[in-house]
Amino acid sequence: MIHSRITGTGSYLPGDPVDNTALIADKGLDSSDEWIVERTGIRTRHLAPAGVAASDLALVACRRALEAAGRQPNDIDLIVLATSTPDFVFPSTATILQDKLGITNGGAAFDLQAVCSGFIYALATADKFIRSGSHKRALVVGSEVFSRILDWQDRGTCVLFGDGAGAIVLEASETPGIHATALHADGRHRDILAVPGHVCGGQPIGDPLLRMDGQAVFKFAVKVLAEVAEEVIAAAGMTKEQIDWLIPHQANIRIMQSTAKKLHLPPEKVVVTVDRHGNTSAASIPLAFDEAVRSGQLRAGETALLEGVGGGFTWGAALVTL
Ligand code: UT7
Repeated sequence: MIHSRITGTGSYLPGDPVDNTALIADKGLDSSDEWIVERTGIRTRHLAPAGVAASDLALVACRRALEAAGRQPNDIDLIVLATSTPDFVFPSTATILQDKLGITNGGAAFDLQAVCSGFIYALATADKFIRSGSHKRALVVGSEVFSRILDWQDRGTCVLFGDGAGAIVLEASETPGIHATALHADGRHRDILAVPGHVCGGQPIGDPLLRMDGQAVFKFAVKVLAEVAEEVIAAAGMTKEQIDWLIPHQANIRIMQSTAKKLHLPPEKVVVTVDRHGNTSAASIPLAFDEAVRSGQLRAGETALLEGVGGGFTWGAALVTL
């Protein structure tokens, strides 16, 4: 039986961290460091300079993941890239990344759009490709320049997000690395978190900036994340006690702590980057995963529960042994 396994991780954050006080001053916001830290846990975020696109951030993250896996770009036969802030309407950011990496082997490359659940969707997709035998070695990427779709007059959303990219190399293996994945969506809730604009003749039409009903999203997230955690643990035939780490989507420390509590995991077993990265949407889980590996928190043989929730609404989880 073919399994898939993570063999390398990498990530990239553009520029210097911007702290709450500097952001508030720069954008002229009626807000405070105290409010942002207390309600969200966010202290700093990174913002990509003008002209830097999602594929640029992904390129650095992927090079680092390839190096960690001991692989060359042309060893990769599949790229699944999750983003809500692609370089263009088309071509896909995945094919731009493929070109920038110098991959010329004709492998498959495509974007996937599930907003903040994007990396979980991408991981589940690549896992299924590999387990089917059709592909052997994938780059699974989350890359976002969310700063481009923020309304800098809206203090309720613009302080929450940041830019960045994370990537893993996922390879066919005889032993399981990805034990189980679970994906869900419920389009009835699509209006509570949306960028309700579209592109026509190359021009944005309508409202091309992020709009969110924060409280509705908060309640929905707490509920479905607890449910999907239980589901993926059961699907893997495992128990809560076998989970060493929780690596959740990094949106709000209070949501993350609520999930950890339901899993009986102490706070020190939750990988937290939201304080330094803000919410980087599809990039937040692979960024946190890479940081956990490189800092020596998550070690070979340990098991992590990854989970995310985002616009659509979409949500999902994956149970992974490194
Ligand atoms: O990645 C996708 C998933 N997204 C999320 O998970 C986000 C989920 N939601 C949240 O994290 C929280 O709902 C927020 C952090 C967005 C907001 O926190 P909250 O505790 O739900 O605050 P609220 O929206 O109820 O607002 C409370 C007050 C309001 O003022 P009034 O009406 O009580 O006078 C807001 O206008 O806080 C005000 N407020 C702010 N004050 C200072 C909203 N944003 C700010 C701000 N600074 N940046």
